[in-house]
Amino acid sequence: MPSVFIKTYGCQMNERDSEAVAAQLVAKGYSLAASEAVADVILLNTCSVRDGAEQKALGKMTALAGDLRRKPGVLLGFMGCMAQSRGRELIDRLPDVDLVVGTQKFHRTAEYIDELLAGRRDKIVDVAEEAGSEATIREHLLNGNGTKSVTAFVSIMQGCNQYCTFCIVPYTRGGERSRTIPDIVAECRQLVERGVKEITLLGQIVTSYGKRDIPVRAGKSAFVQLIEAVHEIDGLERIRFTSPHPKGYGDDLVEAYGRLPKLVESAHLPVQSGSDRILKAMHRGYTRERYLEIIRKLRQVRPEMGITTDIIVGFPGETETDFEETLSLVREADFDNAFIFKYSPRRDTPAATMPDQVPHEVREERNRRTLASINEHGARKYGSCVGRMAQILVEGPSRKNPARMMGRTRTNRIVVFDGSERHRGQIMDVKITRAGSFTLYGDPAILNLDGPCNQ
Ligand code: SAH
Ligand code: F3S
Repeated sequence: MPSVFIKTYGCQMNERDSEAVAAQLVAKGYSLAASEAVADVILLNTCSVRDGAEQKALGKMTALAGDLRRKPGVLLGFMGCMAQSRGRELIDRLPDVDLVVGTQKFHRTAEYIDELLAGRRDKIVDVAEEAGSEATIREHLLNGNGTKSVTAFVSIMQGCNQYCTFCIVPYTRGGERSRTIPDIVAECRQLVERGVKEITLLGQIVTSYGKRDIPVRAGKSAFVQLIEAVHEIDGLERIRFTSPHPKGYGDDLVEAYGRLPKLVESAHLPVQSGSDRILKAMHRGYTRERYLEIIRKLRQVRPEMGITTDIIVGFPGETETDFEETLSLVREADFDNAFIFKYSPRRDTPAATMPDQVPHEVREERNRRTLASINEHGARKYGSCVGRMAQILVEGPSRKNPARMMGRTRTNRIVVFDGSERHRGQIMDVKITRAGSFTLYGDPAILNLDGPCNQ
């Protein structure tokens, strides 16, 4: 059977979609190629959130199309957000591309590849909407390289209705559509039976999960009801989710951290800006004060809470004063880390045509200043962990140095240590001996080598 290579750009939702497509292909008998050089089918799962991500994928596909002259017969395809927003335009521009699969059609990819390879069809573009597509991302590839996966991502919903004025996601991913609680719990249960210890619930705006379909019960939103149901699964050790929206942090969710021990003390809570004027123009639905209040409440319930965020610099109309409010929020919020993005105009979004677009150099400069602040703060925060104990879940070899193992603290910090395969999947206590750039180094030998056994 032919082999397939999938290259993924962008967010964790894309990573998850690629994994599901790969698993669907494997189930049909395809093999997964170790590199694009040896693949019979090459798929790019694309991101549209910033222009840079689109240009990268277009550049890559142009290079692959050039390679075709040397290696004819390889099938090329686009999937994901750029496939959705550009559709057939991609084939007009790059005639060597055979397949364009939109964000509601990932599950059809294997069938389309069959048809193309069999010569039944010449080109396929499918970017239509499909009722029920929110429940089609469910297959997992758990045992790659013969090793067991400790942690897995579960897609709980698709789309977003928030329409932040800078964001293309509501157009590329469609409106909010949620899976049912029993369906999600069944998938999580199967993962745990296959050895998974940690589950991350995924969606573009997970705090809006089930809003239209599942009524609030005893003051608990649908999302909190879902977390409670997943929490019941025996053998599951940790629950994470990403990404929430600050407006979804009602007291029911804050309070859930106090009573659900598997819900780890970690949140990726995108703030975008520290200026109320800009937050309003972005259509974010909260103020700076409300955001800081949520963080304070979370830390009252879980003082160790690790909070990361996304920040956009250079949104249209952002003055130096607005930007300084973002810098001061960064200092006040005591983030673990932040992802800083230079504003990138996206077609058909309201912000792209707002007046007072911020010049490139100013966006660059604000990006540099924010990064410097985050790095300095991160170094101090990570440095303060040295000498303390941390509980980690061991995921596998460290990516940067495969001779060592890595795990994550409940607060989502990476800890690298000298260990071996037998530590994989274990929850263990390590002493932090050193801090690097957003990485901690630990020593498990100070305790019982195997850590607490959780069989
Ligand atoms: N809710 C989604 C957001 C997807 S976009 C999530 O799961 O994270 C991820 C981040 O990209 C956003 O939080 C925002 O900070 C950034 N972003 C989105 N649109 C952008 C744009 N037009 N220019 C620059 N950054 C953008
Ligand atoms: Fe985008 Fe805002 Fe939704 S950032 S994904 S429109 S919450």
